[in-house]
Formats: sequence, C-alpha cells, structure tokens
Amino acid sequence: MFGRRKTQQEAVDKKPVPRRAPEPRPVAVAPEPAPAAPEPEAAAPEPQRAVSKPEPEPAKPELVEPAAERVADIGMVPSAAAIERLAEIKVAVFNDLLEAVDLAEISKLRPDEVREEITDMVAEIISMRNLILSVQEQKQVIFDIINDILGLGPLEPLLMRDDIADIMVNGADSVYIESGGKMELTDIKFRDDAQLMNICQRIVTAVGRRVDESSPICDARLQDGSRVNVIAPPLAIDGAALTIRKFSKEKLTLEKLVSFGSITEEGAILLEVASACRCNILISGGTGSGKTTLLNCMTNFIDTSERIITCEDAAELQLQQPHVVRLETRPPNLEGVGEVSMRDLVKNCLRMRPERIIVGEVRGPEAFDLLQAMNTGHDGSMGTIHANNPREALSRVENMIAMGGYNLPSKAVREQISAAIHIIIQAQRLRDGSRKITHVTEVLGMEGDIITLQDIFLFEFEGEDENGKIFGTHAPTGLRPQFWDKARYFGLERKLAKALNMEQGLT
Ligand SMILES: Nc1ncnc2c1ncn2[C@@H]1O[C@H](COP(=O)(O)OP(=O)(O)OP(=O)(O)O)[C@@H](O)[C@H]1O
Ligand SMILES: [Mg+2]
Repeated sequence: MFGRRKTQQEAVDKKPVPRRAPEPRPVAVAPEPAPAAPEPEAAAPEPQRAVSKPEPEPAKPELVEPAAERVADIGMVPSAAAIERLAEIKVAVFNDLLEAVDLAEISKLRPDEVREEITDMVAEIISMRNLILSVQEQKQVIFDIINDILGLGPLEPLLMRDDIADIMVNGADSVYIESGGKMELTDIKFRDDAQLMNICQRIVTAVGRRVDESSPICDARLQDGSRVNVIAPPLAIDGAALTIRKFSKEKLTLEKLVSFGSITEEGAILLEVASACRCNILISGGTGSGKTTLLNCMTNFIDTSERIITCEDAAELQLQQPHVVRLETRPPNLEGVGEVSMRDLVKNCLRMRPERIIVGEVRGPEAFDLLQAMNTGHDGSMGTIHANNPREALSRVENMIAMGGYNLPSKAVREQISAAIHIIIQAQRLRDGSRKITHVTEVLGMEGDIITLQDIFLFEFEGEDENGKIFGTHAPTGLRPQFWDKARYFGLERKLAKALNMEQGLT
C-alpha cells in the first residue's frame, strides 16, 4: 500500500523533522475546539515539488471534501487566534509529511488513493505530535493539505461551488467572485505572491504552457473545462491576476433560461425554430452576458444527423449531437511559432465537409471566412460576438473584416454580411445582475449602403422593484419574420406562428 513512499512505519520511527518550523514544536494547542479556517493564510506550503510535472494526470479537485461540507465551512468566521493556531499546525504537519512521503510519487496515484494515503499519514502525524484537534479541525487540516499538494490551494473551496460564475484573483490578497450576477470580495487569501504564482504555474503546465516574466500572459483550462487566463508581473502590477470562468456542472438549457426569466417560453420557441430551420445566427453581448451559454442552448436544436464543426479558443461548448468535431486554436510557443489562429481553423473546417460551423467567439479576420461559409451552403452556422446591440454587432463584423486586410469596398462587405447573417440575438447582463435576451433581430438586406434590420422579439425595460430587481416584458414586435418560409420548409411554421402570436390565418 505504501510502495510509493517511505513506509508509514518508517515515517513514524523516524520522528519527522519539520523543515521550515525550526523546532518540532508541539504546536501551542488550545484545548477549546476552534472553528475551521477557510484557508489559514500563513500555512500553505510549497507544493510545486509534487505537481509541477504536467504528466501524469494531476489529481483533480474532486478528490477533496464534498462540496456541501466545505461550503458550510466558508460561512464560518473563525477567530484570528484560531486561524493562526491551525495555520501553525498545518505547516508543522505538512513539513512532517514532506519528510515521510515522496510527493512526486504520491501524485501519480489515483485521487482516492492519494486522499486515503494523506489522511492516514496526517492522522498519524497528529497523534505522534500529541496535537489536540477537534474532528472538524483535523478534517480541515487534511482538506487544506490535500488541496495544497494536489489542487489549487485556497481556490479549491471556490472551485467546488457551482453557484460561482467567475473567480478573479487580483494578487495574493484579493479574490473576488461573481455569483448570481453580483461581484463579491471573498475572505480568501494566498500566503504570498509566490504561492499564487505556483498555482498559476500548475494550472498552465497541466496544459503544456508556461507563465513567467518572459511570457506573462497565458490562457489555459482546468480539468473540469473551466476557462483560465493568467497575466503575471511585471504586466500585472500588483501580483499575478488569475481569472477563471467556471465551468458550470449544471448545464443551462433554454427551459432553465426561461425559468430564470431571461426569456419567455414563446421567445425560447422562437430561438428553437431559428436554430432548427438552419438560420445563420450571431449571438451578440457584452462580457459575461451569457453568449456562450446561449449558443450552447441553441445547438441543442440542431438535428442529430448533421455534421457540426466547432472552433473555439478554449473549448467551452458542450454539444450533445453525435456527429461533432471540436477544434481549438493554439497560441504561439515560447519561440513565437506554431500559432494556429481562429482563421486557420475556420478555413480548414471548410475542407472538412461541415454542415454547420460554430465559432465560439468571432473576434478577428475569421469573420470573413465565417461569412463565406454562411454564404456557401453551410446554413445554420453560428457564432458569438462582443457588441452592445445588434446594429453594433454588424459594424464590429465589418471592422474585423476591414482589419483583416481584405481590400474590399465597404458596400461589398456589407452585402456579404447582409446575405450571410439571418438573425442576431442580443444577450445582456443587466445592472441587477440578471441576464436577459433583449433582442431577436433579423437582417433583412440592404437599402442603399445600409443594412436593414427588423426586431422580431424584444425585452422592454419597465422598472425596478423594491429589491432592486429589474422587471420588464418580453414580447414579439408583431412583424412577420423573413425566415417564415424557411420555418414552413422545415415543418415548423405552426410553432413559429405560436411563438409570435400569429396563428390567425394559418390553415
Ligand atoms: N440567462 C442566464 N441566467 C443566469 N446565469 C447565466 C445566464 N446565462 C449565462 N449565465 C451564467 O453566466 C456566466 C457567463 O456566461 P457565458 O460564459 O455564457 O458568458 P459569455 O457572454 O460567453 O462571456 P465571455 O464574454 O466571457 O465569453 C456563466 O457562469 C453562466 O452559467
Ligand atoms: Mg463566451
């Protein structure tokens, strides 16, 4: 059982000598049980010895305590003395553990085995040192040590919470989260900048990248699919900034968006019809407005027989269809070569016999290739774009094409755009934190030099209740969409008519 480390017996025989604690202090042990500290500030050891190697599969956060238990811990406010005491204990126990086990070896075990090994060892060390700890404290020490060795240290409790959308670390002392659409400062802190930097390194090395002073910007992904961005000093002036867009375990569907009030049932049916009858769709919105989520929901209505190719910077989409090819861009390596851009992917996809092309986020010259694809028989393609309203989304596409160096007259570009894109859906995060779909707008064509748009479904802001919640109504504008004939062709006319309250006159 202990083949990969010094035996438990050896560890006990050889009274462990802490490396950083100068003397093996039977740490000052207050008899009264103190509540568990969410993350004892001073205690985090230097775990990179164990896990800096990208292979083998580093153990994942799920090897630690069940979320519910930990969430309960977060709400507790332990006294400063209790935090300090537990932190000291943690350092001492951790140092003993370093003496007793080969962490590099232990990290090769399966997560449940690691947990078991460390739990046994820590329990032994605690008893050997005659430390008096409550059950909860002992659990906390084990929990934090496992997180420090294998997980992402102080961030682990946040990673386990499924109600958090983003985690934003601005240097070692300031960790914000976005939960329920609201930004909050947490009491979580890193021991120092070095610990934060170690954790950033660990995240990016797991995907074969590196972040340091010479290449201080890096995108990566956690094993659960969460999207990560790191920007290190000297570019980040007050310590490394780490941003995690958490992958939600609970997959949002259009029904759930309806239950959140982001759209009405009729609006959801309209989106379903637009997706199923192969309209080319651009989802527009600001940062974190729910564009990717909406794109994901819309793809649920794609027929299972269709061949779909997705192109993303960091794979976030979770298509349920059986016939999907997922592609991801690659940044340049340290020598500045080997980059595969979104444009390369979109161009390549055209040679892969796609029926639909889905671009996670259109942000550069690939806009042109996507339009070409939309115009050349790949109807039903979709993408997201950063813009504040549908009109602006179109001008952003135009600018992206202009910046791509295609020497085309602006009228020709607009014609391409108006022929390619059928529908723009606007997502917005309102100031109360709620996310709403505010526009479903159709691109009709050109009038002179101008692309004409028609809103078919809108959210009208009405006011704010006493709790600061914004209310308003979603309603069809009464205009008959141009894609009505497509809907009829796909046998969805009745559904569309129902969604838009236009059933009168149907036979
Ligand atoms: N309608 C909604 N109601 C509540 N939460 C939502 C809704 N849509 C998205 N979310 C949550 O908001 C967060 C951000 O969503 P998403 O990643 O889709 O945004 P985005 O616009 O693609 O962001 P970015 O600009 O960073 O790519 C996610 O945690 C997601 O679960
Ligand atoms: Mg997104």
